[in-house]
Amino acid sequence: MIGIFDSGVGGMTVARAIEMLLPAYRLVYFGDLARTPYGSKSPETIIRYSVQNAEFLLRQGAQAIIIACNSAASVATEVLKEKFSVPIFEVITPAITKAVQTSASGRIGVIGTTATIKSSIYRKKLHELAPDCHLFSQACPLLVPLVEEGWLRKRETKMIIRGYLQPLKRRQIDTLVLGCTHYPLLKNLIGPRIGSNVSLIDSSVEVAETVQDFLDHTPAVEKSLEQKGENLYYVSDMTPTAESIAEKIFGRRIQLIKT
Ligand code: DGL
Repeated sequence: MIGIFDSGVGGMTVARAIEMLLPAYRLVYFGDLARTPYGSKSPETIIRYSVQNAEFLLRQGAQAIIIACNSAASVATEVLKEKFSVPIFEVITPAITKAVQTSASGRIGVIGTTATIKSSIYRKKLHELAPDCHLFSQACPLLVPLVEEGWLRKRETKMIIRGYLQPLKRRQIDTLVLGCTHYPLLKNLIGPRIGSNVSLIDSSVEVAETVQDFLDHTPAVEKSLEQKGENLYYVSDMTPTAESIAEKIFGRRIQLIKT
């Protein structure tokens, strides 16, 4: 069983991408709605929550864990890798790797929560992978609440996105990483505002491909993954918009189980 956790239901963009690419494997999802958002919290708090979330998934029988939340992945990945023996995946490395492969000019942008951008994790990873590339980052703290309110087509959302993207446009990036679980839901608004010459990198798709590649090359783990049974979607609290966001992501109703 593949375990996936996020601060809420936005990480279901990752669960959806896994389901599309690797439909044979059973998933267990945990969305920490009782303690969301993570993007405005300190690294210490995010690490503590992430350890608890991973422990919950392991108790449900997860044999691999995907940190779907960019904010958690930016600060907690190394701690989880040290603490737990199962394979741990995260959304940042696959996304920045794809960005490097995609960018012709080496001018890459990233948008994310305050925690993700403050951690400088994308900059560190890019420096390791391609020291000649330039990274331009922008925290977009208002976008998560707008998605959670379901304001996916509103004029106000378009204006806020335009404001956030303006500095990146001036930097003439040719590739933009959507460094937050919620942003794939805003792709249709972000695309035209950053410009059709800029490629958008969706970390949910990239992490699914990384997991597929890992399983192709690690038969021992691949064989151990439980392949029967329904997927389970746990949340630590039920918020008014949780089910509708989940439905938007999957295009069907998702039964959320409160822990
Ligand atoms: N899941 C978070 C992320 O990808 C966004 C929501 C939050 O701030 O908790 O960064």
